[in-house]
Amino acid sequence: MEIFIQPQDLRARVRSWRMNGERIAFVPTMGNLHAGHGDLVMRARNLAHRVVVSVFVNPTQFGPNEDYAQYPRTPTEDRKLLEAIGADALFVPEVAGVYPEGHTHSTLVDVPELSGILCGEWRPGHFRGVATVVVKLLNIVAPDVALFGEKDYQQLTIIRRATVDLCLPVEIVDVPTVREPNGLAMSSRNRYLTAEDRNAAPRIFAALDATRKALQGGTRDFAALEAAGKQSLLDAGFKVDYFAVRDTTLQATPVDAREYVVLTAARIGRARLIDNVRVPIR
Ligand code: PAJ
Repeated sequence: MEIFIQPQDLRARVRSWRMNGERIAFVPTMGNLHAGHGDLVMRARNLAHRVVVSVFVNPTQFGPNEDYAQYPRTPTEDRKLLEAIGADALFVPEVAGVYPEGHTHSTLVDVPELSGILCGEWRPGHFRGVATVVVKLLNIVAPDVALFGEKDYQQLTIIRRATVDLCLPVEIVDVPTVREPNGLAMSSRNRYLTAEDRNAAPRIFAALDATRKALQGGTRDFAALEAAGKQSLLDAGFKVDYFAVRDTTLQATPVDAREYVVLTAARIGRARLIDNVRVPIR
């Protein structure tokens, strides 16, 4: 696996692959890689000849009181994992490589219809930072296909929309959430959980799954479903930012949707956990 720090060096390598007729897949991450990231990389290998993975803790998607400084950085372990899975290139840019004029002076990408709802209400500016860095990374790497996890469903929806609106020539592929055996979605932020928090954490998936079953059983009283889901997380000791039933656009909850998404963000101890389940209606 080749490691690149400078955008122009990575670009040159990707260009040489493309001249050989090879297809390029890209998996952007913030590192501290776990089996969920690993699954994205393995699926990427099945979609292209070459796989580029980036590890970049993006300053513009963290709020002033969030965990940018403490975000877990494990470069040696990340490199070993990617080498074992067979990534071709690891891109680890510096902040100045991604934000040439400084990250507080960047041109920004905003998807206004989607960035202020759900997590956006609780993390102002977060999705603008995400959309901005993802568009930059896509412009640096210029992949044919880029893979994102459904774990971050709102992020995935925003990135899909930004690439369509900005006419970026890349296919966005979504990957189902990888979970622990107890249902807890894998996340770099799970390492903030104490032993006690870890006992409560599976209740998130349990609450989402109970809502899924009710929707598939025909219940359409969305307000009651949201209240019940929220209450079950409060009972388990969480502070609940939201527990929401939406259609796949995230902007509405029609009674006749073909598919719903149930999403939540809940805080326990130092951790803010997000999760969701997709609910196809037969
Ligand atoms: P990060 O949290 O490192 O996640 C990188 C990618 O891995 C995202 O597409 C995310 O949805 C996916 N992922 C995380 N946990 C997963 C799980 N349990 N199962 C499947 N996929 C999972 O998301 C980001 O980084 C950043 O916001 C980024 C897109 C890189 C922009 O900075």
